[in-house]
Amino acid sequence: MTAAPPPSTTRFAELSADELRARLREALALYVTAMNYPRGTAEQRAPMWLAHMLRAGWRCAAAFDGDGAMVGIGYGYLGAHGQWWHEQVRRGVTERRGAEVADAWMGDYFELTELHVRPDAQGGGIGAELVRLLLAGATSKHVLLSTPEGPSRAWRLYRRLGFVDVLRDYQFTGDPRPFGVLGRELPMA
Ligand SMILES: CC(C)(COP(=O)(O)OP(=O)(O)OC[C@H]1O[C@@H](n2cnc3c(N)ncnc32)[C@H](O)[C@@H]1OP(=O)(O)O)[C@@H](O)C(=O)NCCC(=O)NCCS
Repeated sequence: MTAAPPPSTTRFAELSADELRARLREALALYVTAMNYPRGTAEQRAPMWLAHMLRAGWRCAAAFDGDGAMVGIGYGYLGAHGQWWHEQVRRGVTERRGAEVADAWMGDYFELTELHVRPDAQGGGIGAELVRLLLAGATSKHVLLSTPEGPSRAWRLYRRLGFVDVLRDYQFTGDPRPFGVLGRELPMA
């Protein structure tokens, strides 16, 4: 099965932190819609997204439709000791697979933190293109991400892009949902 390419009117761009700050409300609305989260989630997440922009290696890519509306957003940054996600995943990988495996995956990686496409624009290759854009500029050895256990469109996309299991059915502190942590080597071919 091959997805239709994104409409030719779709424009892809890397966003600077200033550019994302200027469109943060729109980006968070897209995120909440794509994830089907309750409305108040956008306000809760704003401080976290703003803090993430200050992290080393932060990169953001977005997609816009012919009218200039944002239809896709993705960002990530360099994983490092002391970050909440890093420590959670490190604990899980160490417990289940040992410290060596944790070191191998987590010594030098880009965390793909967020990736969302507006529901009416999904399935047309926008998500794949955003991942490619984000990772084309990443110089780390690996990329890691977490996503709720599938099957889902996100899982199909990540598998197709060559992501393999790092941890399965993992529970992050404070979230009852099981997550998969997936990773792959960089660069993407
Ligand atoms: C996950 C998400 C970002 C993917 O974005 P997207 O634009 O829908 O993704 P793409 O169109 O690039 O790729 C997904 C689809 O294209 C198909 N596809 C694209 N190119 C393909 C190719 N060359 N060959 C085969 N299949 C291909 C995939 O199999 C998949 O189709 P399907 O889901 O209908 O089976 C988006 O669906 C989304 O926002 N989902 C909700 C939020 C979410 O889960 N975010 C991730 C949280 S970690």
